[in-house]
Amino acid sequence: MGDKMLKLLPFVLLAISSVQQVSAAKNDPNTLSAKVAAKVMMEILHQPYNEHAYSDADANTNTNVDPDSNSDSYYSYHYRGPPQPSASAGGLQQKLASHGKYYFGACADPNTLNIASNVNVLKSDFGCVTPENSMKWDATEPNRGQFNFGNADQLVNWATSNGKMWDVCNEIFEENGSLRQSVFARVLGESFVTVAFQAARKTDPKAVLYINDYNLDSVNAKVNGMVSLVNRVNQANPGTIDGIGTQMHLQSGQGSTAQAVLTALAAANVKEIAITELDIVQAPVNDYTQVVNACLNTPKCVGVTVWGVSDTNSWRASSNPLLFDGQYRPKAAYNAIISAL
Ligand SMILES: *[C@@H]1O[C@H](CO)[C@@H](O)[C@H](O)[C@H]1NC(C)=O
Repeated sequence: MGDKMLKLLPFVLLAISSVQQVSAAKNDPNTLSAKVAAKVMMEILHQPYNEHAYSDADANTNTNVDPDSNSDSYYSYHYRGPPQPSASAGGLQQKLASHGKYYFGACADPNTLNIASNVNVLKSDFGCVTPENSMKWDATEPNRGQFNFGNADQLVNWATSNGKMWDVCNEIFEENGSLRQSVFARVLGESFVTVAFQAARKTDPKAVLYINDYNLDSVNAKVNGMVSLVNRVNQANPGTIDGIGTQMHLQSGQGSTAQAVLTALAAANVKEIAITELDIVQAPVNDYTQVVNACLNTPKCVGVTVWGVSDTNSWRASSNPLLFDGQYRPKAAYNAIISAL
């Protein structure tokens, strides 16, 4: 391991372990607290706890349509549990689970958990929540060495499921399938992916570890780059990456290519794949059902997460891309999915 690698490892791992701690289910007595987890990782590396480096300029490389564009985040958490008793019979979660899938999820954070109508829909229709922003790097460590898990803790407190799905690497690819410029790629090259996954595995052996990206919306260079990288990593070190997530922030009409994409991703050497941030401009019925059916028809696809409940809280609010309108009423696409399921 070179000097540069040694120097970088601590902050890669600190980021991972920092996030890991917040994710810990509160009712799991075996879970390490955030700081303890970070310290353990540092000790493993024989590095002082505070010796990590991170600069906004280094990580803020996003330029494309991307909900994380200002977040500087390569790590985020998803929660996954068995079908939730709290989801109503006949709701999205219950319907999708009846086909053997794990979850129909939505993103959430304290800002939307404060809205009663939103919470009602989360309870009736969704079995999984993904932190929208609260576990991104800029939220958990706004300044070097200054940690804030307040919003993340609120979300975890709200969530009741214990199963976890962890995005270890998020949005690391260029559109042409090569690795994006980042402090990780620049200094460590491709090996940062393996380093990050191995550290995540060590920190939380039970978590399902994902690599996740956007614009994997046709069988394009980025999809091929993703599949190739995952296969290289898992061939060299079997079982390193558990799953591939495709965000699916779609335009109208792109639902038609969802099946081809899922088939291509599922052909990679991974145990599972998932749709992680689905929303579709103007929420066309056809596109939404095509995407959900594509997951149903792909054995490795374990679940679908939509990027919000109501249009009014969407990062793309002006394009009304979600399943519930501004008054939290189900839209046509919602009804079509329920019928399809
Ligand atoms: C891929 O795209 C990036 C960003 O535009 C560029 O810097 C890089 O040179 C491209 N790589 C190849 C192999 O074309």
